[in-house]
Amino acid sequence: MFDRIAGVYDLMNGVMTAGMHQRWRERAVELARVGSGSRALDVATGTGDLALALRDAGAEVVGCDFSEAMLTRARQKAPDIPFEWADALELQYDDDSFDAATVGFGARNFADLGKGLAEMVRVVRPGGRVVVLEITTPQKPPLSTFFSLWFDRAVPTIGRLAGDPDAYAYLPSSVKRFPEPGELAAQLAQAGLTDIRWILTAGGIIAIHAGTVAS
Ligand SMILES: C[S@@+](CC[C@H](N)C(=O)[O-])C[C@H]1O[C@@H](n2cnc3c(N)ncnc32)[C@H](O)[C@@H]1O
Repeated sequence: MFDRIAGVYDLMNGVMTAGMHQRWRERAVELARVGSGSRALDVATGTGDLALALRDAGAEVVGCDFSEAMLTRARQKAPDIPFEWADALELQYDDDSFDAATVGFGARNFADLGKGLAEMVRVVRPGGRVVVLEITTPQKPPLSTFFSLWFDRAVPTIGRLAGDPDAYAYLPSSVKRFPEPGELAAQLAQAGLTDIRWILTAGGIIAIHAGTVAS
């Protein structure tokens, strides 16, 4: 599915978020606490926007994904960043080999969320950071009403216009089955993080969780 949508992915991101997704990525990078001299891994990097934001903060970045079509787009955008094939559930990187690992709009697609989070924790050194940027379901009206209209009606319609109704019908269902923020924090703790905090933005539609790898 991700190979199929790679060509329209950036355009759809811009349309569906009114361009706000880049600001959310910047917040995620701040929470990753990287800078010059840091090594960061962006898991499920897709077309690479979060990897680019990490690089712009001064980090040495590797982006990885299991969709070759997504990786091709990312490489075209930033030939200076190594974009590598990897399965998030079985990363090929050594233990403790990064100062931070991030995932943007990717975790809800992991076939085994616990395993994916544990892999991110494994490859980050003790004291390093793991950040998860994800769409979440707002609980209270009016945002919950808007969210439901947007995701259940508008997004599938936009997907049909973009030529891939299945992919953009999958998006709302993947968001709905993803754990709510408190539950995700519990899963991050189980994966080996401490000091877990999260921020909600975009009226509660976007959650950015971050934690520190336990020593
Ligand atoms: C919605 S896109 C997000 C892309 C990008 N991180 C962003 O912020 O726009 C989800 C990405 O997760 C990737 N993905 C999903 N499960 C994966 C897995 N198990 N291993 C590697 N990549 C995965 C898909 O190939 C896709 O590129």
